[in-house]
Amino acid sequence: MPKLFSVRKDGTGQLIDSYNRVVRDLRISITDRCNFRCSYCMPEEGMKWLDRPELLSFEEIERVVRVLVERYDFESVRLTGGEPTVRAQLPLLIEKLARLKRPSGTPLDISLTTNGATLRLLASDLKNAGLSRINISLDTLRRDRFIELTKRDQISNVVSGIHSAVEAGLQPVKINTVVMSGVNDDEVVDIVRFGREVGAIPRFIEFMPLDGDNSWSPAKVVPANEIVERITDIFPAKLVSSGSDPAKRYIFDDQMGEFGVIASVTMPFCDACDRLRLTADGKLRNCLFAVEEQDIKTTLRNSGSDDDLAKVIEGSAKRKWAGHSIGNVNFIRPKRSMSQIGG
Ligand code: GTP
Ligand code: 5AD
Ligand code: SF4
Repeated sequence: MPKLFSVRKDGTGQLIDSYNRVVRDLRISITDRCNFRCSYCMPEEGMKWLDRPELLSFEEIERVVRVLVERYDFESVRLTGGEPTVRAQLPLLIEKLARLKRPSGTPLDISLTTNGATLRLLASDLKNAGLSRINISLDTLRRDRFIELTKRDQISNVVSGIHSAVEAGLQPVKINTVVMSGVNDDEVVDIVRFGREVGAIPRFIEFMPLDGDNSWSPAKVVPANEIVERITDIFPAKLVSSGSDPAKRYIFDDQMGEFGVIASVTMPFCDACDRLRLTADGKLRNCLFAVEEQDIKTTLRNSGSDDDLAKVIEGSAKRKWAGHSIGNVNFIRPKRSMSQIGG
């Protein structure tokens, strides 16, 4: 078994899981709440929200990130939700994280995944606070469909939010589209065209069994290779290497940008996974599909030392499994919905 903590030649530490993968990316859910109700993420009614005191404070989040950065040279953090922009004072959290210094001296990569509804007002404040890049969800370009999918009449705000993000200089701006068979799969090429026009990178995500109303079935998944075929028939493109990113990247032959596919179901990327997740209520999850979590909030709130926090972190990395088994008979669906886990 590899050592969980190792020191590199330059003296910086790194966190290594039991399958020899380096863990260096943290996804932080900062709230379970959302102003939309996307059916693939949460039910329309009946969500029970966390009470305010259950949420990690910005100072507690900063402390966990500081330990990850100082001890294990974490490279990146992504803020998610629910919808992260519904948490008050979001730029303040970004400012705090942007001040953290990696031992190697390279700046921490800070990104955000959002539904984009309020970005028109927020994009430049986020950029000024130190946000590097942003991913915005948009599953359809049709107003009626948008309302059906999100239960909110907000498509014009999301589209102007995408423009604002590009104008604010967030780089790159990515568009996340969850593709569902018979729901929005006829819009893939239109969304690519839209992305090329606005200067954003569209990414098509296979629908995963983390939806709010338990309506997921394998038949609703459109395999990434079909999506790629439909796009490249109209806009020829070539696959390029994408490292440990879940997205496979394709560069358009006419050099007018790129698109991506995230094939979590048909081509899992677990063997290159470098992530750890922190939920809004202070639990570490070592996989999107993890069935157990490690409580770090209690250690934070019981005056635990950095060494105590490191113990919880290393315990979580140690238990990280080889990968999920969607589609397999022994797949266990996590108890929490996507909005509670944080994407
Ligand atoms: P970058 O590539 O760094 O821009 O971000 P990302 O694509 O990892 O993040 P984003 O929040 O935009 O997520 C896009 C999709 O990838 C969402 O559907 C996520 O649920 C999914 N995703 C992110 N991380 C994982 C993961 O570790 N495993 C799986 N199966 N899916 C993931
Ligand atoms: N399957 C795939 N992607 C999902 N997302 C939310 N729920 C699902 C699901 N069931 C995506 C959103 C958002 C990101 C955080 O996760 O579109 O872009
Ligand atoms: Fe809200 Fe995002 Fe979930 Fe849609 S996918 S309900 S926008 S958290």
